This record gives sequence, C-alpha cells and structure tokens, in this order.
Amino acid sequence: MKELKVAQSAGFCFGVNRSVGMAEKLLEDKGMCASLGQLIHNEDVVRELTSKGLRVIERADEARPGEDVLIRAHGAAPEVYEELQKAGAVIHDATCPKVKAIHKIVTAAKEKNRFTVVIGMRNHPEVEAICGWCGEHKVLENAAELEQWLDENPCYWEKPITLVVQTTQTNSNFTECCNVIKKRCTNPEISDTICLATSTRQEEAARLASDCDAMVVIGGRHSANSVHLAEICREHCPCVEFIERADALDMDRLKTADTVGLTAGASTPAWIIKEVRNKMSDEIKVEESAVEKEKSFDEMLEETLKTIYNGDKVTGVVVAITGTEISVDLGAKYSGFIPTSEFTDDGIKVEDTVKVGDTIEAVVVRVNDVEGTAMLSKKRLDAAKMWNAVEEAVDNETVLEGVVTEENKGGVVVNVKGVRVFVPASQTDLPREADLAQLLKKTVRLKITEVNKARKRVVGSIRRVAQAERRERIENIWNEIEVGKKYHGTVKSLTSYGAFVDIGGVDGMVHVSELSWNRIKNPSEVVKVGDEIDVYVIALDPEKKKISLNDDFVDTYITAVTEQEDAMPITF
Ligand code: F3S
Repeated sequence: MKELKVAQSAGFCFGVNRSVGMAEKLLEDKGMCASLGQLIHNEDVVRELTSKGLRVIERADEARPGEDVLIRAHGAAPEVYEELQKAGAVIHDATCPKVKAIHKIVTAAKEKNRFTVVIGMRNHPEVEAICGWCGEHKVLENAAELEQWLDENPCYWEKPITLVVQTTQTNSNFTECCNVIKKRCTNPEISDTICLATSTRQEEAARLASDCDAMVVIGGRHSANSVHLAEICREHCPCVEFIERADALDMDRLKTADTVGLTAGASTPAWIIKEVRNKMSDEIKVEESAVEKEKSFDEMLEETLKTIYNGDKVTGVVVAITGTEISVDLGAKYSGFIPTSEFTDDGIKVEDTVKVGDTIEAVVVRVNDVEGTAMLSKKRLDAAKMWNAVEEAVDNETVLEGVVTEENKGGVVVNVKGVRVFVPASQTDLPREADLAQLLKKTVRLKITEVNKARKRVVGSIRRVAQAERRERIENIWNEIEVGKKYHGTVKSLTSYGAFVDIGGVDGMVHVSELSWNRIKNPSEVVKVGDEIDVYVIALDPEKKKISLNDDFVDTYITAVTEQEDAMPITF
C-alpha cells in the first residue's frame, strides 16, 4: 500500500457526540444514569460508559423513580416521554436536533390532516420514534415499495401527503422515492430530512471509493448509517472491508491495493479510527497522502467539532424548515436554528425565500451547551449589514425599500431590513391631514436623509422618492405624447366644463363636449371620479407646456398631481 486516504468526515457526528457528551457529564456529576436503549450503535463505547455507571434499559417502565434517563439521539415517541414521567424518571433529552426537526414536520402534517409517508428502515428506533409523532402514516423502505403501495392504494393519489426521510438514508433512495411520489400524487409536500452529516459522509465515501483500490469502513453492524456507507463504497470499489474495530481488519486483503481509503460511521469514536489507522500504518509502510500531511487526524476531527460563540457570524446549510424555525447545519458542535421571528421582519414567508439545501448566513444569538444548540438570527445580521448600507445611502442618495411597521403622532417607522427608519409625517407624501395608518404594512421606497449611528436614529423621506418618480413619469409622458395618442386614465375630478383625467402622473382635461356623442350638460352625467376611461390627445403645446385649444375648448392649465412646480398643461 502506497497511500492511505482518511475521509475528513469520518467518525462521530454532532448528534452522537452530543449524546455521548451528555452521558459522560451525567456520569461525572452523579456517578450513574440510564439510557433508554443502547446510547449509540457502538459496543465499545457503550461498554466503557456502562463501566462508569450507565444502565441500559429497554422500556420506559424499567426506569426507577428519580433516575436520570437519557433519551438517545434517535429520539422517542411522545408516549415514551409520558411513561418516563409516570415512572418518576428525570428526563435528559439527547434527541438529535435534526431528528427533532422531523418530529416537528410530521406533527405539523398531523395538525393539517396530511398523511405522512416515512422513508426509512421499518424497525429502526429513529423511524419508530418518528411514527409516534405522526398522525396517519406509512413507513416504506424504498421507491419500489412506495410504488407498489401507491399502485395498490389509488385512494392516496389525491390525498395531501407529507414525505419525510430517515436522517441516515442515501440520497439516491430519497431521490427515487421523490420521483415516484411526484409522478403519482397530486398534493405531495416533500421534506429532505437527510442529515447533512450523513450526506456529506456518503458523498465523500463515494468519492474516496472511486479513487481507491480498497476501502475500509468502520462501524457497527446495527448502525444504519455505517451499513449504508459500506453499501455506497461497494458500488464504487471492488474491495470493501466493513469492520467494527481494528482487530477485525484482515490486512491480507489490502496487500495488493496501492491506495486504500478509510471512513467510519457516525457512531465510531475517534480512538477506534486511530487504532485502525495505526494498525494499517504499522503493518504496511504507508506513504501518507498530501491531505494527511497538511493536517493531523486530531486536527481534522477538531475542525468538524468547532466551537462557536455568541455574536459570531456563521454560515450553514438549511436542513429543515418548519412552521416555527429553520434548522441550519453549521458543521460545528452545535446544531443551529433560526426561529421564524428571527428570520426577517419584512413579512415575507420563509418558504418563499429559502429552501432546504440553501446556504444561509446568520449571527449567533445564544449558544446552549447543554442542549448543543445555537439560536441564530438572520434578521440581526441583515440589520448589521444594513447599517453600513444606510450610511452609504445618505451620501449616494440611494433609494431603499422597507415596510411601514408603526405609525405615531410625528410620522411613521419603516423597517429597512432590520433598521428602523423614522419618516416624519411631512415626508410621507400623504396630504397634510391624511391618516398615516393607511401606510401600515405597505412596502415603500425612501431616501435616507439623516443617520446618527450612536443614537441609532435614522430619518428618511418617502416624499423625495415619490417626487422624483413623478417628475420622471411626467417627463416621460411629455417626451412621448402626441396628438392622436391613446391613453388609459383615471378620472380625478369633475368641473362643470369637463373631467380631469390622470394618465399616469399628468392630468389632462376632457371637455364636456368631448365626453359623449350626445349633448350633455354636466360631465357627471357620463363619468364619475375614479372611473377608468380611454382618452385621445387632441391638442397640446409642449413648448409652452400650455394647451392650445380649439374654439370649442375652454382655455385652461392642467396641473400635475403633485405640486405647482410640476404643473404641466395637456388636454385630450
Ligand atoms: Fe443527528 Fe445526523 Fe448524527 S441526524 S445523530 S447529526 S447523523
């Protein structure tokens, strides 16, 4: 063997690391605790924890009153929590936040009377727990099963169906199932709930397996993600060794391989990976790959478990979206989540802005070391960025957009991506006595006129933008207007001699005699304010901005809708 390539994503995932950490802390603090089921699919780790005082129980009613009981990363059904409470146990919930996100999705589906399809291994504890949170549901393992079930039950074709997938399933199985359900069902809602730690590991394993002559996969036989890793490697490499620990490795099988890849499931601790690696290095002269020369294995592990702090700017990938939060994979020790209230203040629906798989930036608001979660805020990061933009906007006279969120005596407050901009009543572009409440929740365009960052005071003007836009519209109209041109306009006011019609920023007058083929005495006989009508230009004088009238017409000026300075005469 000339080269050993170790997968960077090998070993404990965030969820497993967190649950083992919680068990170790409990054992350190209290000397004993219980886990409901095997804490992780790795006998060595469980044996070590058991030697320190961990008791593995199979059913909730085995818990003793007052006993600290860990719910493992796979999660548990709601009735399990109830039973543990009934038994008097103290619950420590180590459910992986990514699994919790699935519980939320299926709970929401249940509330909306949607049927849930769970793609996953029927008897796997994660899948069993998910089912506990579902309403009506069906577990199916692959696309073939899904297709057969739909063939046999056409009544589900038009039912609202929510599809979720076990976190450790392969992307290819999920994609095939999506294709089937999209083809057959008219109202499916699909959530890609495969854990990014899993898909990253699988993609890296597939790449390594394609590049190597042999692959070593370390993981428990009962570990779904390890079994899938071995399957993926077999698809790309003819020689795959699937082992639980170093002493099971048959070195003879690797002797003819020039390049060997090494990866491990999410429940394999770093020390077992090291043991296997050392065994390979000891028995055969390994020339380390360039990647390994640059970074030690410990450094690589540390990188995947990096710590984050309040106030840090982080980038992650959206892994789930529920009605209340967006789960974000940060590739760190912590699982990130953005409450929908911390996403944006613009009133935009989360689903319209981001989707699962998108990369998202946010700022860390609160790290919870016990739960291993980090609450994030996108709107606060947007606001910080916006402060810079707002300061620049004063100098550059940039037009910004925001939503009116408050109305007070002096004016209104506009939220411009998290920055509160005060617009005095005189700058709202409404008439003096108008009710400012009519602007509430409306999107407005404004210019910033004053910024005082220290006092967090920003003042803006909607009027300046509106005036400039009106001038532009008027100029455009005068540039292209000609006798005979047709416009669609709105009747703004009536006089005894005619109707004033707004043709898009400029008012023109239709003389009473031009309003109808029949003789009428007053314009109100045929039109009223607010009517939309088609009109033709019959005379104009662009030079003097004055109307040159036929004898039949009343000589008048036409005033543009804004101010006297914008006044421009035109007639139809
Ligand atoms: Fe959680 Fe993903 Fe691990 S779902 S337990 S981080 S494989």
